[in-house]
Amino acid sequence: MAILPIIIAPDPRLKMVCAEVNDITPEIVGMMDDMLDTMYAAPGIGLAAPQVGVTRRIIVADVCKEENKREPCRLINPEIEWKSEDLFAYEEGCLSLPEQYSDVARPKSVGIRYLDETGKRRELEAEGLLAVCLQHEIDHLDGILFVDHISSLKRNVIMRKLKKLKKVENAG
Ligand code: NI
Repeated sequence: MAILPIIIAPDPRLKMVCAEVNDITPEIVGMMDDMLDTMYAAPGIGLAAPQVGVTRRIIVADVCKEENKREPCRLINPEIEWKSEDLFAYEEGCLSLPEQYSDVARPKSVGIRYLDETGKRRELEAEGLLAVCLQHEIDHLDGILFVDHISSLKRNVIMRKLKKLKKVENAG
């Protein structure tokens, strides 16, 4: 159990295409637990491996709203199998873009194929917040951030704020 440092944008490590996991080693399983600890501590509802500096196709999520209840998801090599034509707009944020939010419209429901932590092939159907969260996290595996879905004007405002924040932190 460990809380890992989260990479803050802009950072080239957040723009990389991650490699598939071919072998689910104990290190990978342990890292997923660390990613969940990191996500819960932040707190956040999803985290992708590149956000903690690991360029592999791994995400974790928990969108459970009930207090004191946890429903962790661990997805290895997740792939979107189908998406609905209906869109759903949600105000997204990201642990790598602290305190920045913007509405993003994405397919309202999606079907996802993935491997669980034991290597078993699984499928799930998600809608609402879980669909938003999983699409956002899967985007991270291809170097795509939520701001890549909004206008360049809004994106530039957010990225400028983050750059400024980094300068202040590095100076302090
Ligand atoms: Ni994110």
